[in-house]
Amino acid sequence: MGSGSVRWAFRCGSWAPTRPEWLHAARCIQREEKDRIGQFMFAKDAKSAMCGRLLLRRLVCERMEVPWSDIRLERSPRGKPYLAKTTPDSASAGSGEWAWNFNLSHQGDFTVLAAQEGRQVGVDVMKTTMPGSSSVPEFFRIMTRQFTEYEWSVIQSSGSEHQQLAAFYRHWALKESFIKAIGTGLGFNLQRVEFHLSSELLTEGRVLRHTKMYLDEEEEEDWIFEESLLDAEHHVAVALGPQDKGGAGALLSSLPPPSHFTFLSFSDLISLAMPLTEEDPAYWESFEKKAEAPERQREKCTHK
Ligand SMILES: CC(C)(COP(=O)(O)OP(=O)(O)OC[C@H]1O[C@@H](n2cnc3c(N)ncnc32)[C@H](O)[C@@H]1OP(=O)(O)O)[C@@H](O)C(=O)NCCC(=O)NCCS
Repeated sequence: MGSGSVRWAFRCGSWAPTRPEWLHAARCIQREEKDRIGQFMFAKDAKSAMCGRLLLRRLVCERMEVPWSDIRLERSPRGKPYLAKTTPDSASAGSGEWAWNFNLSHQGDFTVLAAQEGRQVGVDVMKTTMPGSSSVPEFFRIMTRQFTEYEWSVIQSSGSEHQQLAAFYRHWALKESFIKAIGTGLGFNLQRVEFHLSSELLTEGRVLRHTKMYLDEEEEEDWIFEESLLDAEHHVAVALGPQDKGGAGALLSSLPPPSHFTFLSFSDLISLAMPLTEEDPAYWESFEKKAEAPERQREKCTHK
């Protein structure tokens, strides 16, 4: 059995797919996902979603040992991807019986995947960017309800405007990683969860595991949050739920030491991939015409 945890990152922001790359990638994902990705207006969104599918399939193929062409990814009613049973009489039928849990996030320049054996997992990556059209205080005002009074006091006392924004996005990634681990999506009242950052500095090259979460004012000791920086601007948080009680996860030993995100190349993403559908030249023609990102986002600069 592997080390029990996978942390992969792909820098989509600097990926300019060639025609053969894009057409091959499109052939190697499920048809409905290919169609969904084809409908994005901007290339940035299409690329990050495509890389997400390739990351997920690679994980399932490599770590869960399901042949690429048997992998069937589905989504919960709220959108969280999971692995469906491979064949009607498969021994490991049903998503609940896999020891691996996984989750994806794409934002800023990265698509990331976190997977863990025996624990529920949620991941979120956030790039520290200046708000598009408002000042930082105005932006914070609009976001008031996303954080508790205590969290705002920490964010707003963290130094320069840029440091405050970095603290904001750090908290955001933490909150979102939890929401994504439990899979509820937008319906969750974010005031119910409060993060207490560890006093250790979050710097590039480190993975911190000391941040604590309070749910309805009680510390959740079974939840673990791993925080790291992919680069100076991208915070990533991985939420790990309590050890699974039943199923294969219960047989596993305790959590391995925190691991850094590994940066994959496009060749890594497709190294195990197998075409599932025919080549579709029109898919490239439509991709080629897309603008990279909305005008406002392309102009938006980060501020140090
Ligand atoms: C979908 C959601 C879970 C996260 O969306 P997001 O942060 O915009 O996007 P991310 O890039 O981090 O994650 C998207 C990926 O998460 C996965 N995902 C989708 N729905 C999910 C769910 N309910 N639970 C967990 N993961 C989910 C998918 O893999 C998706 O990528 P894909 O559609 O290309 O496969 C949704 O809850 C959301 O929009 N939440 C925002 C709530 C909010 O206001 N947060 C403020 C925090 S302070």
